[in-house]
Amino acid sequence: MERIARTRISDLLKREDFGSTINVKGWVRTKRGSKQVTFIAINDGSTIHNIQIVADVANFDEELLKSITTGACLSVNGTLAESVGSGQHVELQAREIEILGTCGNDYPLQKKGHSLEFLREVAHLRPRTNTFGAVFRIRHNMAIAIHQFFHERGFYYFHTPLITASDCEGAGQMFQVTTLDLNDVKRKDDGSIDYSADFFGKPTSLTVSGQLEGELAATALGAIYTFGPTFRAENSNTPRHLAEFWMIEPEVAFNDIEDNMALAEDFIKHCVRWALDKCYDDVKFLNDMFDKGLIERLKGVLDGEFVRLKYTDGIKILEQAVADGHKFEFPVFWGMDLASEHERFLVEDHFKRPVILTDYPKEIKAFYMKQNDDGKTVRAMDVLFPKIGEIIGGSEREADYDKLMTRIKELGIPMKDMWWYLDTRRFGSCPHSGFGLGFERLLLFVTGMSNIRDVIPFPRTPNNAEF
Ligand code: 4AD
Ligand code: MG
Repeated sequence: MERIARTRISDLLKREDFGSTINVKGWVRTKRGSKQVTFIAINDGSTIHNIQIVADVANFDEELLKSITTGACLSVNGTLAESVGSGQHVELQAREIEILGTCGNDYPLQKKGHSLEFLREVAHLRPRTNTFGAVFRIRHNMAIAIHQFFHERGFYYFHTPLITASDCEGAGQMFQVTTLDLNDVKRKDDGSIDYSADFFGKPTSLTVSGQLEGELAATALGAIYTFGPTFRAENSNTPRHLAEFWMIEPEVAFNDIEDNMALAEDFIKHCVRWALDKCYDDVKFLNDMFDKGLIERLKGVLDGEFVRLKYTDGIKILEQAVADGHKFEFPVFWGMDLASEHERFLVEDHFKRPVILTDYPKEIKAFYMKQNDDGKTVRAMDVLFPKIGEIIGGSEREADYDKLMTRIKELGIPMKDMWWYLDTRRFGSCPHSGFGLGFERLLLFVTGMSNIRDVIPFPRTPNNAEF
């Protein structure tokens, strides 16, 4: 076969130099035709759209055409031609076809219209479907949008460790990391495990958040963000929880909670605008395929300000809803942690806009949040989104050494693990704030997918670590 430089299908579909000789490579999506011509739609992942290959049966070996089946990988040399029937304005008149890889008839993606549940079972192949091609192109784009947002605003991308000895959120949901032989664990005289023999000489886990180290960096570099995997061993089998997910955590010296809210709002709007501007074909596909309200919802977030509301006022609204006859599964009272049904009521039914809820009871939030003068609440902020509920969690941080110490003691957090964190409050402490955006929660919103397992390539959930 003549060697011609490959053209990506996304580029090819924009060209109008009909008559040019082109090479494309990709995987067969469909094949149909008559005795005279065969039409082969191939896709190379560069776009949701396929290119149609037109092959005159008379010009090709019958056996070759026969072995071109759905899923096979082809290299095609041909002439760029104007198309009338294929839904694209160009097609390729095939001159030479090479089969790079045939595809057996046990290929699981023969037909269109497999369920998302089935596709999770073949997660190693699902990126080849239109749906997952679109989702993962959008995922890439959101990562780029995030780096661009922070870079342009003078934030530094700071890498925090994945293996840690401290539990940032204090929820005890950590995966232990050990090289001890679990079949033969050495114990001390009092019966407890002897971690001096473990790899790090003490118990360690996978991190639930990069925040604590992020604070160290913010109080040096001014403004930083992390963007990496985080791990939570919470046994919640919901469409919004993963055991391994990616989080973006900006942390900014001198920002108070108002600045923090403004940053969070700008940040999400930037990502949503990027999706509409730069991923429109993929977003449109998902809109038409799964969620006819998607594009409207995305645009809705860009119009107008997010509501800013105190927790106590949020509870009043929910209590009023209950009084008016609205049924929630979980009871509503001051002091409760909001369930996603409560968050979605505020956002979808009451305000019909994203809501930033602040000043939560200290008992339901982490130790590091700035304490309010009322002695009951802390300067927490959660950003609540339509269809998702909590998409961001953050706060202004407690900058006062004594207040922070008091809280740490109240909660019984082991001090020996925290000395380095407390040093930020001893050596030039400053007001500062930050938050964490769940990357997959953002993707749920931007793609309109309804299960978080469908926006990460290889989901990790209870009882599931395949692929
Ligand atoms: O609210 P969280 O627990 O906050 C923190 O971890 C803080 N240290 C962040 C900070 O202030 N720097 O988690 C932040 C976000 C949540 O709002 C949610 O979007 C996402 O992370 N998240 C999860 N996403 C998927 N699966 C899970 N199990 C998640 N847990 C939290
Ligand atoms: Mg939270």
